[in-house]
Amino acid sequence: MPTREAVRLEVRPNAAALGAEIGGVDLRAVDDATFAAIHRAWIDHLVLLFRGQTLSDDQLIAFSRRFGDLDWAPIQETGRRFVEGKPEIYVVSNVIEDGEPIGSLGAGEAVWHTDMSYIQDPPKASMLYALEVPPSGGDTGFVNMYAGYEALPAALKQRIEGLMVKHDGTYNSGGYVRQGIAATDDPMNSPGAVHPLVCTHPESGRRVLYLGRRRNAYIPGLPLAESEKLLDQVWSYATRDEFTWYNQWRTGDLVLWDNRCTMHRRDAFDSDARRIMHRTQIKGEARPAA
Ligand code: SIN
Repeated sequence: MPTREAVRLEVRPNAAALGAEIGGVDLRAVDDATFAAIHRAWIDHLVLLFRGQTLSDDQLIAFSRRFGDLDWAPIQETGRRFVEGKPEIYVVSNVIEDGEPIGSLGAGEAVWHTDMSYIQDPPKASMLYALEVPPSGGDTGFVNMYAGYEALPAALKQRIEGLMVKHDGTYNSGGYVRQGIAATDDPMNSPGAVHPLVCTHPESGRRVLYLGRRRNAYIPGLPLAESEKLLDQVWSYATRDEFTWYNQWRTGDLVLWDNRCTMHRRDAFDSDARRIMHRTQIKGEARPAA
């Protein structure tokens, strides 16, 4: 049943382990009471979908700023940093203009990840706004990492308590090597940041798995084979289908997600179709902590 949380806010939880659609909101003009209700719904549902939006880049940036300071967009695979004059906008696209991709990640699959966990201070949230979408494919999936943690058998929970994980900074989720980084598949020595494997969410206070990416992940202090085995075990719980929800994009969709308690992935799509998405990232106020 839809619930009214503020005068104009309608929260429709998905029939899934996470996510809700928010109706009746024009993100170009959000008053404080509506914003407070959106924020509450985001903490409760982890991922929010707003359909039918018509946002300029400046309006996307302005709504994103309601949640906190923004990161500058990561460097794209081409070495370009961002949309000219808008350092906060990261373009996710397969479109080629004048022989050069206008954005990152191409048309292939993007594997499960949480944004920029390979840095010390990862963003707490991201927003993806659909400007052009393919007729099929390119769906984005989200997974509930609280549910992944809660599903672990007691012995496994105990085994991973207090462990850290190195989050690899070599490859992005499309498998492309990041600008200025030498390709390596050595998890023990690849560049990246170390965070607790189990964190406490700073706003909900709940325990949550913080995994980042599987490729090149490493649990410092363990022999590589043991680290791989343990991570494979944890990942097999964390990415169960029953903990996921997928958005089939429509133009004008904006999806907001919490990087501290979700991961996301993207299905491949026809490379001849056009997909253009603009993304912002909101800085975390606190480092991932146990
Ligand atoms: C991302 O990983 O931020 C992009 C996901 C997508 O293209 O749907």
